Amino acid sequence: MPIEVSVSPQVPDDVEVLGVPVFAGRRTLDNSAVELDVSYLAERGFEGKVGEACAVPADDGSTVVALGMGEPDDVSAETFRRAGAAFAKAAWNDTTAAIAVLDAAGELDRGVVAESLAEGAVLAAYRFTKYKNQAKPSKLESLVVVGRGAKVQTGADRGARIAAAVSLARDLVNEPAGAMTPTRLAEVAIEVGEREGLAVTVLDEVAIANEGLGGLQGVAQGSAQPPRLIELVYEPPGARGTVALVGKGITFDSGGLSIKTADGMETMKTDMSGAAAVLATMSVLPALAPKVKVIGILPTTENMPSGTAIKPGDVLKIRNGKTVEVLNTDAEGRLVLADGLSLAVEAGVDAIVDLATLTGACMVALGRKIAGLMGNNDAWSEQVGDAAERAGEKVWPLPLPDDYRKLIDSEVADIRNTGGDRYGGALTAGLFLKEFVGDVPWAHLDIAGPARSEEDNAYTPKGASGFGVRTLVELLTRYRKPARVRS
Ligand code: BES
Ligand code: MN
Ligand code: ZN
Repeated sequence: MPIEVSVSPQVPDDVEVLGVPVFAGRRTLDNSAVELDVSYLAERGFEGKVGEACAVPADDGSTVVALGMGEPDDVSAETFRRAGAAFAKAAWNDTTAAIAVLDAAGELDRGVVAESLAEGAVLAAYRFTKYKNQAKPSKLESLVVVGRGAKVQTGADRGARIAAAVSLARDLVNEPAGAMTPTRLAEVAIEVGEREGLAVTVLDEVAIANEGLGGLQGVAQGSAQPPRLIELVYEPPGARGTVALVGKGITFDSGGLSIKTADGMETMKTDMSGAAAVLATMSVLPALAPKVKVIGILPTTENMPSGTAIKPGDVLKIRNGKTVEVLNTDAEGRLVLADGLSLAVEAGVDAIVDLATLTGACMVALGRKIAGLMGNNDAWSEQVGDAAERAGEKVWPLPLPDDYRKLIDSEVADIRNTGGDRYGGALTAGLFLKEFVGDVPWAHLDIAGPARSEEDNAYTPKGASGFGVRTLVELLTRYRKPARVRS
């Protein structure tokens, strides 16, 4: 059951637990509705650092939770996400809770504060417990954000909806590959489209071949599971342009004949995180109603070895006519994305973003928490980078150097699918994708690192993170049409 988030000007009488802000050095607000026993907090070692929480039992049997906010001057949207998260964990076994930290907003927009609190709390309460007999999920049913005004109302609602979308992305990725096949992903897309009001079309394996999606067809040919090309469209009245979101949807990446090691395969159900982020983003657009048309394109297949699998040295023809020599069948993401990007260009969109768990090399460069950002248009890449920053998702720019382009020259085809050696692997992958976008402003997020968390963090438990959804929602909310200059 999703947590119901609401707004009230006062703390409701019946809440079991109330969160209140406390700054670094255990400084409380003068105007606070609740008197906190500061010496009790000191005894329990609570200092007021961001993300700290300390439960203080109240006389009436309820609980007040002190939530660390850090220094008043450093308070940001992220502070509120983390305060919301700390609160959700402190209130794990309560069903009704209220959070009154809006008082700590200072100069910040109260809409952003309410959104961040709700987002942080709902995301922190997420667990994937479907297959566990002994799970202890959060019991939280209702979260009241204490504050007044339309901005607070809209913000809290937005935060809850965005967190629900991120949770959908997490669910899709956490689901085992044996269950979350391309066919199943397409079924979910159709269900989501019907429920939320999106147009959804699905191409099956026959249509994929007929439409000339040779990259997707080639990667899929070794698998017993048929591929799908899923397209979702959100079209609001008065749209200020069209954006395409393309997501890598490899439901399981064994590497194919260029097979991975057992260790390397362990988490490869995660290889559809780009597609999951795009589907989840699409799911929330009708409710949030940004004024831009959005086309979601999800090429989805398994990558498996078998007697029918694609072989190193084989040549595939992508939708836009370019031919690719496949020297490593484990560099499959770029092959399916090439078809997806070609379709986006054909649709005549104004800008493209793709998300993909594309390269281990990007993880070597930026680690597990930061996505690589590449593109062909500085203004558009900057817009994506700024959206990520506001959304609290970490991305960092990487270059696509012209003189590395020759690394993907092929002896027999237009290009090859690997860069020859492992050096600069994130960049040669990016340069490969660049071949399929023409002069349409395009940004590429390599999310191989942050798509999955290896530890429980503030509002991201171990497992699928749903990375990218918040960035995309933020990007589309404040979308400005980029000019078509190549850079
Ligand atoms: N899905 C992987 C990339 C990946 C690796 C994501 C680890 C998350 C964690 C991708 O399909 C892949 O196998 N890439 C190869 C490319 C190489 C063969 C050029 C890689 O990074 O090793
Ligand atoms: Mn691979
Ligand atoms: Zn892959």
